[in-house]
Amino acid sequence: MTEMLRVLNLRKVFTIGGIFSRAKIIAVNDVSFEIKKAEIFTLAGESGCGKTTIAKILLGFEHPTGGIVEYKGRRIDNIKPNERFSLRKEIQAIFQNPFSTFNPLRKVDRYFFEALQNFGIAKEEREAEKIVREKLEAVGVAYEEFREKYPSEFSGGQLQRISIARALLTNPSLLIADEPVSMVDASLRMSIVNLFKDLRDRFGLSILYITHDLATAYYVSDRMAIMFRGEIVELGPAEKVLQEPKHPYTRLLRDSVPEPDPSKRWTSKVLLAEQEHEEYLRMGCKFAGRCPSAMEICKRESPIHYEVDGVRVKCFLYR
Ligand SMILES: Nc1ncnc2c1ncn2[C@@H]1O[C@H](COP(=O)(O)OP(=O)(O)O)[C@@H](O)[C@H]1O
Ligand SMILES: [Mg+2]
Repeated sequence: MTEMLRVLNLRKVFTIGGIFSRAKIIAVNDVSFEIKKAEIFTLAGESGCGKTTIAKILLGFEHPTGGIVEYKGRRIDNIKPNERFSLRKEIQAIFQNPFSTFNPLRKVDRYFFEALQNFGIAKEEREAEKIVREKLEAVGVAYEEFREKYPSEFSGGQLQRISIARALLTNPSLLIADEPVSMVDASLRMSIVNLFKDLRDRFGLSILYITHDLATAYYVSDRMAIMFRGEIVELGPAEKVLQEPKHPYTRLLRDSVPEPDPSKRWTSKVLLAEQEHEEYLRMGCKFAGRCPSAMEICKRESPIHYEVDGVRVKCFLYR
């Protein structure tokens, strides 16, 4: 079986506000995708489109309102807390800010030795050190530079590499990286996403890369999905999606990436808050209000996904 993770019709509704003024926010709606073994799969989309909510559900930090998550063919969206522990070895996370991953008052190496002990991976110190050296080597950090140091003694890029090494300690099959380079210096971003490719190739790791940055997404992804207001609007091989975008929203995004400078991030936050909220609750296609190709049907009905040229597109243009 080449399928690592399967997400089917995932849905998450948050209720916000007080007792008398409750509002629903559909953070994730009908999201389906799978991640294969040794594949880098990317979820890309503007801030607020539901990426982190999906990551939290996959990691068991949030319960889905609906839908199914399967890991290696086994349902994990409804498992008990005590079963989570063994999964934690298999599915590891990397977060946006490495400085908030580590306590500033603790030496970073302590986290490594503690993890090896807690997961029962190393029985004695020499064995543990060997594993730590090996994982640091995989991310390009020397053990001698790493030991006995506090988080503040590293640069952001260096510390993010170290947090990737820490994620590797349990020999996971799947890494979930939520905006892992957005706080890293622009000049170092590519070298870190390069590391993901390296880990995929060397260890057969599957990686869910979450980003709002199309340049790194294009560079690193095998396949990718573009999200808009909680939904996947387009999914397919990364070159196809970004070189011949089919969904009008993907086109808009792609064209808003300033080229040729790949370090420029796409940060267009086009909408006002109320308008945004209205889009989440819209009846038909959520993009219809801004879509240059919108038709009558788009305002009434939500499109299904159409298969076009190896790409899945949620748009009536491809009916
Ligand atoms: N715990 C929560 N309670 C209420 N609303 C939330 C909560 N978490 C996220 N949201 C809302 O869900 C939407 C998706 O958020 P998020 O998944 O963080 O998006 P992204 O990671 O793509 O920026 C946003 O509108 C956000 O405000
Ligand atoms: Mg997020």
